[in-house]
Amino acid sequence: MSQPDMFGAPVDAQAPAAPLTPADEAARLREALHAHAHRYYVLDAPSIPDAEYDRLFQALQALEAAHPELRTADSPTQRVLGQVLDGFASVRHVVPMLSIRTETDTEATGAEAFDARVRRELALLEDAPPVDYAAELKFDGLAINLRYERGVLVQAATRGDGENGEDVTQNIRTVGQIPLRLQGPADAWPAVLEVRGEVYMRRDDFERLNERQRERGEKTFVNPRNAAAGAVRQLDPAIAAQRPLSFFAYGLGEVQGWAIPPTHSGLLDALAAFGLPVCAERTVAHGASGAQGLVAFHQAMGARRDQLPFDIDGVVYKVNSRALQEQLGFVTREPRWAVAHKYPAQEQLTQVEGIDIQVGRTGKLTPVARLKPVFVGGVTVTNATLHNLFELRRKGVRVGDTVIVRRAGDVIPEVVGVLRSEPPAPRAPYVPNFRMPRHCPICASTVVRERDEVNHRCTGGLFCAAQRKQAVLHFAQRRAVEIEGLGEKLVDQLIDGGLVRTLPDLYKLGLMKLAALDRMADKSAQNILVALEKSKLTTLPRFLFGLGIRHVGEATAKDLARHFGSIDRIMDAPEDQLLAVRDVGPVVAKSIRTFFDQAHNREVVEQLRAAGVSWAEHEPSAEADAATLPLAGKTLVLTGTLPTLGREEAKALIEAAGGKVAGSVSKKTHHVVAGAEAGSKLEKAQALGLSILDEAGLLALLAAPAGQPPAGTVPPAPGNPDGSEG
Ligand code: IVH
Repeated sequence: MSQPDMFGAPVDAQAPAAPLTPADEAARLREALHAHAHRYYVLDAPSIPDAEYDRLFQALQALEAAHPELRTADSPTQRVLGQVLDGFASVRHVVPMLSIRTETDTEATGAEAFDARVRRELALLEDAPPVDYAAELKFDGLAINLRYERGVLVQAATRGDGENGEDVTQNIRTVGQIPLRLQGPADAWPAVLEVRGEVYMRRDDFERLNERQRERGEKTFVNPRNAAAGAVRQLDPAIAAQRPLSFFAYGLGEVQGWAIPPTHSGLLDALAAFGLPVCAERTVAHGASGAQGLVAFHQAMGARRDQLPFDIDGVVYKVNSRALQEQLGFVTREPRWAVAHKYPAQEQLTQVEGIDIQVGRTGKLTPVARLKPVFVGGVTVTNATLHNLFELRRKGVRVGDTVIVRRAGDVIPEVVGVLRSEPPAPRAPYVPNFRMPRHCPICASTVVRERDEVNHRCTGGLFCAAQRKQAVLHFAQRRAVEIEGLGEKLVDQLIDGGLVRTLPDLYKLGLMKLAALDRMADKSAQNILVALEKSKLTTLPRFLFGLGIRHVGEATAKDLARHFGSIDRIMDAPEDQLLAVRDVGPVVAKSIRTFFDQAHNREVVEQLRAAGVSWAEHEPSAEADAATLPLAGKTLVLTGTLPTLGREEAKALIEAAGGKVAGSVSKKTHHVVAGAEAGSKLEKAQALGLSILDEAGLLALLAAPAGQPPAGTVPPAPGNPDGSEG
């Protein structure tokens, strides 16, 4: 018998007692692969190691090769297939794909006006009960219609003009998050279910993709939406498969043989139960406070917009009752029951006043456009990166040009292109008015560019103060070990004054030396020492990221830490072992190897450890999969102010231990961590009888070994295996 694992996903635990027929075996493998893919892509909580998934996948492939008649359209092996097309076939939408009206008044009055309009159109009297609204995000991607017949994905089409779209099925099949077959019992599947939603690209995926394109000297994408649109309309499915896409469902097209839930929020829940990704950032604004609830959602999401992993351009409010939606109907091409409230644009026009050179941590010279200040993505931007000389030339940027500047999330602002006259003037040849300097503007060392490299570099190495400063700032940043208060000005002084040459020097700083610095009061010197002390307790991914290894960003650092579990194993891993890590390719593997092959870099790691920098480690990989971590599969909610841990810190610790942090309390919450001034979340947790912890309780939980780990896995070894004190 195949046993469900501890999370309920059917797993290939033991070989079945009686031999299965090939057909049963194929069905069993498909079932397991669907369940694991759902956990991996949609729930973001894998239940088996990648290698185990690959093993099941290959077993199914082999079986299908031997018995081609067993190959089904919804088989997980059938995601990447299909041929290069000449063009896309046209698809007529049975139910037209509409757009939403945009409400420009983003104040409370805007939401109130929407509510008033809905009530008027429903001919509701003053004293009639209030209307409920569902509020959700307006994803910045492209609309897609997924057609499931008897539970199986049979077609995916773009919106097109709303009446006719394009058949992009073979590209959409490559999107791991989109189920090829619905979850749940087959008798619950509708005869026809068209799911509408947005295909988008996450910001980190977008950055990674552009980084890859840049490295290869290939065309970069202007923004995640364009990258996603390009991938969906890619004629070669093999290329589409390499573009990391995601999906959120938000509505319906044609439906047959299904009792549609009576509310929009209920519909989204039902779609999630079918295994479709539905964004958790949504709410229902009830009753008299309806309009206020909508405005509160708009504001709360606006404040968190930068922290979301994907771009949104606003929020959408929808009348929650489907019966009322039907009663309200449509005007021209827009439903009367929905409205979008937009946020300030993340792209704006401004002028390039000059092009400066910045020297980075790895000696890379980056041309940076000095801009006429412009308000974009919620902040005033005065500088924007041009990445390298080739990007600058490809975009044809010149001093004096009007350019499009983009700032989204915490990503550094970027010049995405030059505004061209419309219609385009006969293309005058591009004559750049900027040259790359031959000598480093900081240390005057020679600037070189290696063959096949797009970047110019200063050859000064750690002789170059700019590189040393950047290395320290990188290590000290919030996303690395976080040394609060160690900003640019202080680092300038520390490096220029010769107090800090390498990272471990930071931990040798004393009160005397610090307080003697320019404009440094005793109090702030003391604060820096406390911050340094605090930074010593970190996590392996933060530490690894903080070392500033070329090509090792946050995501890669996390993957490496998860895979190897310890810094020593990473330092010693040969390239082929590094290549086994998700998303680590030859360039990254080589860079990691090169870094740790240099004795002085290992020395830095040793000295930092000797200085007391520490983190929890665990056994390597297959095993290091999420299931063995102390908080694997657990959802926690943070509320109130904790005595020592900041919110982000607590979140990072929980995530490093395999847990998830949710924004709101529900029956599914495992623990609520409450600090001072905890409010309604605590009350709700009490009402639901949930486990409530204080900071000490959380720390104890983090240090505890996981519950009974699944068979064949190794329990985690919390703490520092080399026995060094934290
Ligand atoms: S509902 C009948 N919900 O916005 C209403 N659309 O202007 C149909 N969009 O093309 C759309 N997030 O691509 C809806 N949560 C959301 C959305 C959303 C993004 C896009 C969609 C559509 C456009 C409508």
